[in-house]
Amino acid sequence: MSDSGIMGIRGYDYVEFYVGSAKTTAYWFAKALGMEIVGYRGAETGVRDKCSYYLQKNNFKLLVTGALQPHCYDVLGWIQRHGDGVKRWSVEVDDVDAAFTYATQNGAVMVRRPERIEEDGHPEKGHITEAAIRLYDDTELVYVNRDHYKGIFGPDFCAPVQSIQLDHHETGILGIDHIVGNVRENEMNLWASYFNKAMDMETFVDFKAGDIGTQYSALLSKVVRTKDSKIRNPINEPFEGLKKSQIEEYIEQYYGSGVQHIAIQTADIIATIDALRKNGCEFLAIPDTYYDKLREREQAGELQINENIDDLQRLGILCDKESDGYLLQLFTKPICDRPTFFFEFIQRHGNSQGFGKGNFQSLFESIELDQKLRGNLDRDPTEIMPPC
Ligand code: FE2
Repeated sequence: MSDSGIMGIRGYDYVEFYVGSAKTTAYWFAKALGMEIVGYRGAETGVRDKCSYYLQKNNFKLLVTGALQPHCYDVLGWIQRHGDGVKRWSVEVDDVDAAFTYATQNGAVMVRRPERIEEDGHPEKGHITEAAIRLYDDTELVYVNRDHYKGIFGPDFCAPVQSIQLDHHETGILGIDHIVGNVRENEMNLWASYFNKAMDMETFVDFKAGDIGTQYSALLSKVVRTKDSKIRNPINEPFEGLKKSQIEEYIEQYYGSGVQHIAIQTADIIATIDALRKNGCEFLAIPDTYYDKLREREQAGELQINENIDDLQRLGILCDKESDGYLLQLFTKPICDRPTFFFEFIQRHGNSQGFGKGNFQSLFESIELDQKLRGNLDRDPTEIMPPC
């Protein structure tokens, strides 16, 4: 077995969004997140039915795909149901065939068998290998290997045909910390077990209802991870509360289960959030009372952090102390039209392994305020949850 475990997982690779307009969304990612558009695939590269923009910032890789023709049901059918969102996320593996075989022999639902893909007429670029298994309703987990590929991202991609230079403030985002899925009531254990068996993962944290909830809304959450912790995958499901939880709102608005948020690492969250705000990112609002309590804990000697609490308050950054370190985090508002997908930015200090449990109360109260504005907090007794 290699250092990367039975599955040979090296780490997160790209995340692909299906969206209504790939070009417009790619501009937003470039401007707001300070990413570079480095690759393009579309009519100019011989692909007639869809187009994709490939963006990168350090180890954070995004693919944004939209339809070019009305019969591109793969994209259009998906966004008709879900709105813009994450269609697939990927992990880089040593051997795609071996990873796929292990996964499918341990319960994974096959989507695409391992495939060696090369570009017509360009054998000098080499090939990539990909395979995919199913996650949630119709999300995919892709195994990818590019050891024998020399081009941009993958076959059919070229440098952007149009020079796109967008002024932005340097965000310093580094790569993916974790990817979170929202599933229906009673599905969390099923998907945790699916990951653990098919991906050789383990359940790392199990949040009960009392851990994550306000007086109005609650959820259950399990975190599964690879044994080396390179891949961390929290899974949430709604739990009974007085009002509609954020997970219920997601399931209703997304019309099913899927990816809720991606947490992106930074080594300097003060500079990152400052830049993201200047670039136009919109974040959840944190009340001043949160920082009053943080100062009290600091003055009482319960909290020692390198950052100035005034800076955290100015930028709305949350802080959670753990037994062996602390984390700083902040969440954007939903980035697309439906209140479904959002980003988290996170900086870990020491041996931080958590997900901000101490911030859940303030966070949920902030989310509930936005849910109320959208008319999605109170339950309508005639509502029916979307079917599978
Ligand atoms: Fe998170």
